[in-house]
Amino acid sequence: MGKMVDQSSQARARLTAISSHLSVGSSSGDDAPIVELSAVSAQDDAPANLAGALTVIDWRTGKRAEIKVSEEGAVKATEFKKLTTGKNDKGIKLYDPGYLNTAPVRSAISYIDGDLGILRYRGYPIEELAENSTFVEVAYLLMYGTLPSETQLADWEFAISQHSAVPQGLLNIIQNMPHDAHPMGVLISAISALSVFHPDANPALRGQDLYKSKQIRDKQIVRILAKAPTIAAAAYLRLAGRPAVLPSTHLSYSENFLYMLDSLGHRSYKPNPRLARVLDILFILHAEHEMNCSTSAARHLASSGVDVYTAIAGAVGALYGPLHGGANEAVLKMLNEIGSVENIPNFIEGVKNRKRKMSGFGHRVYKNYDPRAKIIKKLAEEVFFIVGRDPLIEVAVELEKAALSDEYFVRRKLYPNVDFYSGLIYRAMGFPTEFFPVLFAVPRMAGYLAHWRESLDDPDTKIMRPQQVYTGIWLRHYMPVKERMLDGESDKLGQLAVSNASKRRLSGSKM
Ligand SMILES: CC(C)(COP(=O)(O)OP(=O)(O)OC[C@H]1O[C@@H](n2cnc3c(N)ncnc32)[C@H](O)[C@@H]1OP(=O)(O)O)[C@@H](O)C(=O)NCCC(=O)NCCS
Repeated sequence: MGKMVDQSSQARARLTAISSHLSVGSSSGDDAPIVELSAVSAQDDAPANLAGALTVIDWRTGKRAEIKVSEEGAVKATEFKKLTTGKNDKGIKLYDPGYLNTAPVRSAISYIDGDLGILRYRGYPIEELAENSTFVEVAYLLMYGTLPSETQLADWEFAISQHSAVPQGLLNIIQNMPHDAHPMGVLISAISALSVFHPDANPALRGQDLYKSKQIRDKQIVRILAKAPTIAAAAYLRLAGRPAVLPSTHLSYSENFLYMLDSLGHRSYKPNPRLARVLDILFILHAEHEMNCSTSAARHLASSGVDVYTAIAGAVGALYGPLHGGANEAVLKMLNEIGSVENIPNFIEGVKNRKRKMSGFGHRVYKNYDPRAKIIKKLAEEVFFIVGRDPLIEVAVELEKAALSDEYFVRRKLYPNVDFYSGLIYRAMGFPTEFFPVLFAVPRMAGYLAHWRESLDDPDTKIMRPQQVYTGIWLRHYMPVKERMLDGESDKLGQLAVSNASKRRLSGSKM
């Protein structure tokens, strides 16, 4: 009991301390909050019941099909299979490259209105959470659906802190990777290796029903949330040629992360609380974003029943791509290339002539200002106040202005997304560019895990196995190699580059 009260008061003190860093000494010099609450995000306009039915007439056959529309306005894609012309026709398929309008899941975790620029976690506007909450509390909310009580929060924080160390064998694997390994490659490999270090959590070894146990699920959730920053810090320290530092169990999540990066092992080191708070807000903003490319990858892998570490390693793999979590890295490279404000018009012309895309702009879902980008733009000023202004911010602000007043971007509803300003904050905070996607991946573990948990409980969950529209040759028969007549048009293995070292080796002969 004593321990519980102690933990609970520690948690309260940490939350109060972290929240108080929000406005104290903010760049504006007054007590103005960093995050402005958005009237749009908080508006209460729940959609009406959309239930009904469609009558579809198949003019190929004259047949009609009644298709039910759910309360949420969705139809079951399998209903369209009924529409068939007969032999050799398996029914209508929904062709949807990129899943532009396909929902393979029902989810209660986050809500986005891309036209209005709204993002809510479990119904809470992102601005309110960024202003008042902490990443660890938000992770609890995402996972279990409600904000925790004081005791629940204390238990949650305690559990996470107790699982933050990683096996030495894993640190050895990280140390043995090539010196120039990309930290996202290190993170993916390390999470995948956790699968090997935790055979107790592997359905392939312990049975397919393993994750029916709440205790086993919760343990993996806590392990992953706790170990992600430790692995990320080890990847960072390796880049700097330094040994990994053990986590501290007495600091908040983001403080502990900065502690591992910067303490050089001095146990009494304490990171700057305002920078820790900024990082914590960035973690809140990156924690979850419904069925994006990597979260849907997590659900896809998990649907096969594979262990959660492998599923999440796959998701982080998807996040690594420059169109997704790698975009913040790409933005910085782009701003560096532009270099100064006078080069912006040329750059914009290049984008309009499709020579390149503008990184950090545009989004599959947001056709308005990404609400996270608004918060991050303000946070950037806070960081510059502490560590100095990054000259590239002028280029970014002017680039944004130029794009938002250009007909090409206006017509396509291309606005800054979460990655446009986050890279500048990360750079100002001294993180190397290749580490940016890792700073996205660490908090996104919360979203992946919330979706994993939700998918385990959903009676509709099935192994994910999309269809294809077959466009290949219908039928042909095998010919022995000597009898094949090939035309010059058919695809073949191209010329592979051969190094001079290979040429030297190939020029020799075996004894
Ligand atoms: C995020 C992204 C992949 C979404 O792609 P999408 O939903 O498939 O959107 P589309 O590619 O269909 O884009 C629609 C139109 O806008 C254009 N467009 C989209 N993003 C653009 C960008 N960043 N720069 C220039 N043009 C862009 C497309 O070329 C297309 O134009 P078109 O209709 O004339 O061919 C895309 O906007 C992008 O590549 N952005 C840059 C990378 C980035 O910042 N990613 C992070 C996302 S959080």
